[in-house]
Amino acid sequence: MTTTVLAAVRQFSQAKMGDDETGHGFDHIQRVVGLADRLVQAYPQADRVLTLTAAYLHDVIDEKLVTDTVAASDEVRQFLNQQGLTAEQVATVFLIMDNMSYHKTLDGTAKPLPLEGQIVQDADRLDAIGAIGIARAIYFGGHFGEKIYDPAVKPRTAMTHAEYRNLNHETIINHFYEKLLTLKDLMNTTAAKKLAEHRQQVMLDFLAEYKAEWNAEA
Ligand code: ADP
Ligand code: NI
Repeated sequence: MTTTVLAAVRQFSQAKMGDDETGHGFDHIQRVVGLADRLVQAYPQADRVLTLTAAYLHDVIDEKLVTDTVAASDEVRQFLNQQGLTAEQVATVFLIMDNMSYHKTLDGTAKPLPLEGQIVQDADRLDAIGAIGIARAIYFGGHFGEKIYDPAVKPRTAMTHAEYRNLNHETIINHFYEKLLTLKDLMNTTAAKKLAEHRQQVMLDFLAEYKAEWNAEA
C-alpha cells in the first residue's frame, strides 16, 4: 500500500462525513488522522498507510451517521477493493472499524485490535478529551438539549455497561465524570497515554474552575 491511496481515501471520507452536527464531522476525522499519524511515528512496526486509512474511515459506517450500515459497509469494501487493497488489508480495516467503539470495549465484546487499530482507537479517544473534548461535549449536549450543569444531579461512575447504556446523560458536566475522565486509562499506546495526561489536566482544570465560578468562588 502506498501513500497515493490516502488521497482517494481522504476524498471518500470527506464526501461521506459531511458537516458537523454532533461532533462527527470531517473536522473530527482530520484531527483523528493527524493524531494517528503522530502516534504511528512511535511504532515503526505499524503500517502507516493502513492506520491512516482506518482513521479516515472509522466513522463512515457508524449507525449514528448512516441508516443502512450493511449498504454503507458494502460501499466501503468496494471502494477499498478498487484502491487495490488486498483482501487481508480490507479485512483489517473492517476489524478496526467494527471493534473500536467505546460500547464494545465496555461490554467486552470487542475483538483484540491490531496495533494499527489500537492507534486509531487512541486517536479517536484523544479527540474526545482535552480542550477539543470540552468543546465537543458542550456542542453535542446542546444539540441534544442537555443541561450544562445541575449540582442536584450526581454523576454516576463505576457503572456496569448496562447501566451506562441506559443512563440518561442528564448534564454535560456529568458526561465528564461518566465517560471523558475515564478515557485516559483506556489508552492502548504509551505515546497516547502521554498526550492524554495533559488533556486530562485541561479537563480537570476546566471542571474545577467551572464549579468555582458557579459558586462565586473565583
Ligand atoms: P464516539 O463514537 O467518537 O465515541 P460519541 O458519539 O460517543 O463519539 O460522541 C461524540 C462527541 O460527543 C464526543 O466528543 C463525546 O464526548 C460527546 N458526547 C457523547 N455523548 C455525550 C453526552 N451525553 N453529553 C455530552 N457530550 C457527549
Ligand atoms: Ni470518531
